[in-house]
Amino acid sequence: MPMPLKIGCDLVHIPSFAERIQLGGEGFLSKVFSPSESEGATVERLAGTFAAKEAACKALSIPAGNWLSITVRRDESGAPHLDISHPDVRTEELAVSISHDGEYAMAVVATT
Ligand SMILES: CC(C)(COP(=O)(O)OP(=O)(O)OC[C@H]1O[C@@H](n2cnc3c(N)ncnc32)[C@H](O)[C@@H]1OP(=O)(O)O)[C@@H](O)C(=O)NCCC(=O)NCCS
Repeated sequence: MPMPLKIGCDLVHIPSFAERIQLGGEGFLSKVFSPSESEGATVERLAGTFAAKEAACKALSIPAGNWLSITVRRDESGAPHLDISHPDVRTEELAVSISHDGEYAMAVVATT
C-alpha cells in the first residue's frame, strides 16, 4: 500500500520579513537561523529559508517555532535540503523546493 504524500507550503512577503529582521536584529536572526543559514545570506534567501521551515512544519504537522531544529542547507548545485532534529522525522524522506521573485519567497516541502 503506497504511503500518502504529505505536503506543506509557505509564502513570505519579503519587505515585511526584512522589517521583522530590522526590528528583531541579531536576536531574531539567531533565534530563527543557524549561522550556516544566515552568514552572507541576502534577505531573499533568508525569506526562502524561513518559508521552507514553515512549509516543513505544515508537511510534518509539527508546531512552528522551534526554528533551529530545522536547518536548510544548499548543496554544490544550489539545491536546498532539509535537516530536521525530531525523533519521528527521517531526513531522507523529505523534499524541499524554494523560489523567490520580486516581493515574495515561497517553499514547498513534501514527505511520505
Ligand atoms: C535552479 C534554477 C532553475 C532556479 O531558477 P530561478 O527561476 O532563477 O530562481 P527561483 O527563485 O525560482 O529559485 C531559486 C531557488 O532555487 C533553489 N535552487 C537553486 N539551484 C537549484 C537546483 N540545482 N535544484 C533545485 N533547486 C535549486 C534555491 O533554493 C534557490 O534559492 P536560494 O538560492 O535563495 O536558496 C536555476 O538556478 C538554474 O537554472 N540552475 C542551474 C541548472 C539546474 O541545476 N537546474 C535544476 C533544475 S532544471
